[in-house]
Amino acid sequence: MIAIVLGTRPEIIKMSPIIRACETHGLDCFILHTGQHYSYDMDRAFFVDLDLPEPEYSLDVGSWTHAEQTGRIMAGIEKVLMKEKPEIVLVQGDTNTVLAGTLAAAKLSLQVGHVEAGLRSFDRRMPEEINRVVADHISDHLFAPTETSRQNLLREGIDDAKILVTGNTVVDAVSQNLEISKTRFDVLDEMTLKPGEYFLVTAHRAENVDIRMRLGGILDSLAAIGDAYSNPVIFPMHPRTAKMVREFGLSLEGITVTGPLGYLEFLQLESNARLILTDSGGLQEEACILGVPCVTLRDNTERPETVEVGANVLAGVHSEKIISSVSRMLGAASTWKNPYGEGNAGEKIVARVAHQRRSELHLPLS
Ligand code: UD1
Ligand code: UDP
Repeated sequence: MIAIVLGTRPEIIKMSPIIRACETHGLDCFILHTGQHYSYDMDRAFFVDLDLPEPEYSLDVGSWTHAEQTGRIMAGIEKVLMKEKPEIVLVQGDTNTVLAGTLAAAKLSLQVGHVEAGLRSFDRRMPEEINRVVADHISDHLFAPTETSRQNLLREGIDDAKILVTGNTVVDAVSQNLEISKTRFDVLDEMTLKPGEYFLVTAHRAENVDIRMRLGGILDSLAAIGDAYSNPVIFPMHPRTAKMVREFGLSLEGITVTGPLGYLEFLQLESNARLILTDSGGLQEEACILGVPCVTLRDNTERPETVEVGANVLAGVHSEKIISSVSRMLGAASTWKNPYGEGNAGEKIVARVAHQRRSELHLPLS
């Protein structure tokens, strides 16, 4: 039995190819949803869009301080794992759900597989960096998306035998869902947008949106970019960001704000954007995969592959740098090669898990 632990929007999306591969190969698995994300458009919408099975367990933990949230998730996961005793627990990414899931499973001496292992921003002020480092060091199987992430793990003394370079499951998710999306609806038509004639934005990092000066700087730059290029700026807003905009009383003039969008709609918006501005990890990858230039609203990234291939540039949050980065990326050719694999990461991960299981059960290895 495989336990799939997830709790936030990107985990649902990036675990979906693994769930799909388990189904295809008839492997027993169950979903344990921590409830870190819970609003319909941050959670259920993705189960519907991606046609995923219902979680067997929902902890409904919700939003708390870091320690409170991590502790509550750990306690909930421990109960389920003690009952189910899965052969392996899979976690994905760098959220508090991942930290809690990995700790709870490792302390029960269960095998843990970390999907998207080895990413490093080398910035320990980010909660995500702490979560990734801990998860990597106590997991038994490290599914690294690229050779760069494998090297990060080796440098920290992690045994090479635990690491498998798989590509990123986000490539699987994009290729599995973009075509489906096109057969269902035309978001550009619904939003009266023209391909290549709008900017797409997301921002939700604590270090950006919880600080008035930084969030205000981002919003001012977005309005200036929309104005300078006479293109609409579309900003599907994360609830954390919406809350902070309200709290700080910031102006959204010059920006088209929507709520968070479903994955199928969002993929259409991404693939047709003139340029993407973001502080999201997943968007840096998806922009790169889809051939859309990206300006990252951060000073560092744990996705350096996107910068190295020329798909992404780090701009921070100061207006001048953001505006010059947009101009630079619009002037560059979008001919880079996707560094995140062929879209079979989910299959590779499930094959390794199945192989491991058969060897432990002393069955013939296929
Ligand atoms: C979390 C992850 C971050 C990931 C992001 C994906 C951690 C430390 N952070 O950040 O790495 O990139 O998810 O989106 O694990 N809220 C809602 N509805 C929801 C979820 C959140 O309204 O369904 C609001 C609440 O006001 C909450 C705030 O957003 O307090 C932050 O939510 P939280 O899960 O703590 O962090 P994220 O910013 O979503
Ligand atoms: N996404 C979405 N709708 C939106 C914004 C994002 O479906 O309105 C998807 C996006 O395509 C990507 C994922 O959510 O796959 C990224 O999630 P997020 O930015 O919240 O988290 P991060 O990747 O930074 O951890």
